[in-house]
Formats: sequence, structure tokens, C-alpha cells
Amino acid sequence: MAILVTGGAGYIGSHTVVELLAHGEQVVVIDNLQKGHAQAVQTPVFYKGDIRDRELLDQVFRENKIEAVVHFAADSLVGESVQEPLKYYDNNVIAAHTLLTKMIEHNVKKIVFSSTAATYGEPEKVPIVETDATNPTSPYGETKLAIEKMLKWCDRAYGLKSIALRYFNVAGAHPDARIGEDHTPESHLIPIILQVALGQREAISVFGEDYPTEDGTCIRDYIHVMDLANAHWLALNRLREKGESGIYNLGNGTGFSVKQVIETARSVTGHPIPAIIAQRRAGDPAVLIASYEKAQAELGWKQRYNSLHEIIETAWNWHKSHPHGYPRD
Ligand code: UFG
Repeated sequence: MAILVTGGAGYIGSHTVVELLAHGEQVVVIDNLQKGHAQAVQTPVFYKGDIRDRELLDQVFRENKIEAVVHFAADSLVGESVQEPLKYYDNNVIAAHTLLTKMIEHNVKKIVFSSTAATYGEPEKVPIVETDATNPTSPYGETKLAIEKMLKWCDRAYGLKSIALRYFNVAGAHPDARIGEDHTPESHLIPIILQVALGQREAISVFGEDYPTEDGTCIRDYIHVMDLANAHWLALNRLREKGESGIYNLGNGTGFSVKQVIETARSVTGHPIPAIIAQRRAGDPAVLIASYEKAQAELGWKQRYNSLHEIIETAWNWHKSHPHGYPRD
């Protein structure tokens, strides 16, 4: 039987496909290529289309024996979601509703869901544990939380078992640099810093130096994309073995400030990476750090990349070998 990966042409989806294939899983991808890249799809079974297309989903479920779904397909920019909330309710909540409806119709009862630390909003304390309050500060976080709740009720009503993985700041690339991060426009810290090292930008803007942290810049918990990918496979196995729904944080449990990330990137690339201090970016919490104890205890998850240097090094290898990302379609 096969695993259906929605959004398998995206950054995290494509790395997860590689991880699933490495464990001998059969993988089917569906992606509308709005943000994803055809060249990132690492399995031959690929449907180009939208998960809101009911007929296409019927076709995918009819033509393949799907055991479980790993669901990534979504919009994921905090800032954009504040400007265009309805787009996020459509692409995230309505799309998930259609997918779940079709899963139930075709009797597929296991799903691993790509959720986010943005479900917590401004944390009351760090490290954040899964039982902490969820008060999203953006439509992005709000839509992901709405889907988590939809999953909870689908378990109760239809016996659909789900694991929601709340990611912290995902970074890095596959160690062989075959696939990596490629967003247009890029908004994430590490790829932007590396664009400076590649000579594609003059400097990195540091968004705010007056946060209540040691050096005044925001602190985040960076996790390697392959460690994250591995957690999806472990979550799938937990669903197979235990058949219990759950929610898990995925992070490294260590925080790095924006300035520390820039300093580490200087050491990885050997480039001076000029930095300029800019205004705060709206909606940025000062500190986000995960407690990953639950994932460790229940999923048996262990990070392979727990040094920021190594994480940035894999990203750098990808960016150096693909300075303009994937070839444009
Ligand atoms: N930053 C800069 N300059 C930049 C870009 C970012 O200083 O040019 C700062 C941001 O202000 C923030 C930190 O670097 O303090 C990290 O920013 P990113 O944009 O890389 O990541 P975010 O923390 O905003 O968001 C990421 C994901 C979200 C997810 C969130 C959960 O993009 O989808 O982590 O922690 F919700």
C-alpha cells in the first residue's frame, strides 16, 4: 500500500518523500505546483493538481491503494496570512476539509498533519510543551489550529487517527544537496543570509534589536528538515502500531538569536555577511523554543543534526550548487 503525500513538491514535503522512500515506503504525490517545484518530486507517481479538486482526489484514491496520508499542501507565510486571511482559510481549512471528506469516503483512516508552532502564538513560557495555551496571532496559525480541531472531531466521529506535528523553525537541506529550500520571494532568515553570502543581496536586515533577549534579537529553535522528515515516518509508524491520535512539537530544544545565526553562517561560508539593523517585523514573538520530550518519548524521535553549524552547512551546500534554486518551469 502507498502513502499519499500532499504538497510533496514543497520544501518539507519533498524531503519527507525522500525519507519515506528510504524506508521502503511506496509514495504517491499530489501538488498543484503553486509554490512547489516539479523537479523536487522524488517519486514517479505524481499527480499535478489541487486537493480541493474532488474528482482528482477520487481518481488518486481509486488508482492507488492508499494506506495513509501525510498532509503538507498549504500556504504558510505568517505575514501574508494577515494581509489575505480568506486565501488561508480557503487553501488551508477548506482544502483540508475536502481531503478529509474524501479520505473518509475512501476509507483511509490515518493522517500525519503538518502543523506549526504558530498555533501557540506569543508563548507564556519556554520551552513550550504541547499542553500550553494555543492563541495564534495570525490567520496562518489559526487555520492550522482549526485543522487540528477538525482532526480531533473526525477521530471521535469516524475513527480517523491523526498525528499533528507542530514544527518550529525548519532549515537545512538534504545532505546530498539534491533537494533544498526554494521560495519566491524568500522570506526565511537562513536562506536570505545565504543569498548575501552568494552575492545576491548586499546585506541581511535584522528585524529588531530591542527584544528582551541577551543580544536584543529574536530567538528561534532551528530544526533540520531531514530530522523533521524522519519524524513524519515515525509518526506514521506510531499510527500503524498504536492507532492513537496525538500532537507533537518538533524542535531542537535550543534557541539561537538572529545575530547568532548570522555569526554561524559567517563561519560556515567564510563570507563577512554584512548585517543592518531594521525595524521589528509585525507579529514576531521574542522567543520560541520547543520542548520535544513528548516526540522523543512516544515517537522515539532523535535529532541527527543538533548543531546549528551543521544545519546551515547543509543549506549552504544546496544554495551553492543551486544558486537560483530549481530550474524554472
Ligand atoms: N528575520 C530577520 N531578517 C530577515 C528574515 C527573518 O531578522 O530577513 C528574523 C525574524 O524576524 C525572526 C527570525 O529571523 O525573528 C526567523 O524568521 P523566519 O522568517 O525565518 O521564521 P519565523 O520564525 O517567522 O517563522 C517560521 C515559519 C512559520 C512558522 C514559525 C514557527 O516560517 O511558518 O517559524 O516558529 F509558523
